[in-house]
Amino acid sequence: MSTVILKIGGSVITDKSSVESEKRTEIERISREIAAFKKENDINLILVHGAGSFGHPQAMKWLKDGFSARGVYLTHRSVKTLNSIVLESLNNAGVAALPVHPLSSCILENGKIIDLGIGQIRLMLEKGITPVLHGDVVMDRVKGAAVLSGDRLIPYLASVMNASRIGAGSDVDGVLDYSGKVIKKITPQIFAGIKKNIQGSASTDVTGGMLGKVSELLELSGKGISSRIFNASREGMVSRFLNGEDAGTLIADK
Ligand SMILES: Nc1ncnc2c1ncn2[C@@H]1O[C@H](COP(=O)(O)OP(=O)(O)O)[C@@H](O)[C@H]1O
Ligand SMILES: [Mg+2]
Repeated sequence: MSTVILKIGGSVITDKSSVESEKRTEIERISREIAAFKKENDINLILVHGAGSFGHPQAMKWLKDGFSARGVYLTHRSVKTLNSIVLESLNNAGVAALPVHPLSSCILENGKIIDLGIGQIRLMLEKGITPVLHGDVVMDRVKGAAVLSGDRLIPYLASVMNASRIGAGSDVDGVLDYSGKVIKKITPQIFAGIKKNIQGSASTDVTGGMLGKVSELLELSGKGISSRIFNASREGMVSRFLNGEDAGTLIADK
């Protein structure tokens, strides 16, 4: 059975200009789009969501001076609150979904994933359950602990799970060029020429914003796995992506 990985950005499901402010109507709408797709399709779906205002401001406040158990705890607690809201919404919409917390299942080395327990993810998929991972603060062999973005989780999961479709839903129509137009396709060949127009996030974001997203997904494209960046804030776009239709920017090797 083919596997689809969908990341929903923190910018979509939270108000990033605030602290711990979720966008319930957006979370519920996306849950309905996912539920409708799951009902019609026998496909393994793995969800990843960003932390938005339940992680970035907390990591900035509690982890800016480096590792502390209390900082890890407070940051993780916040993103876990958002994860619970997402899980509640998915389950209410009829999606059998369970949480997988990176802090409890992953090990980093200088920010890079070196281990992620996928045993439980595989078992959930076998039972038709949608595992829901999220950006998190994770134990790191070098740094003590480090922020693991949802954007970094997707390429790792895509490789180990041999995923057929990968998408990152954000709050913009795709990767935009200097004039604000959506770039239909990004390959390693054209990246150098457009990189200067791709930046971090406009809001509080301790990970890489759009440039981080594109960099992670370009690395994945090198393994022959392409992906899409599209606007999950627009109604119907999550459905479009899940159904394999054209959406946003394609990141591909060629
Ligand atoms: N060239 C670009 N195209 C699209 N977005 C860009 C670009 N450069 C910077 N950005 C910023 O990146 C943001 C998306 O990254 P981010 O806020 O981290 O979203 P997410 O919550 O989905 O991870 C956009 O809202 C925009 O402010
Ligand atoms: Mg981000």
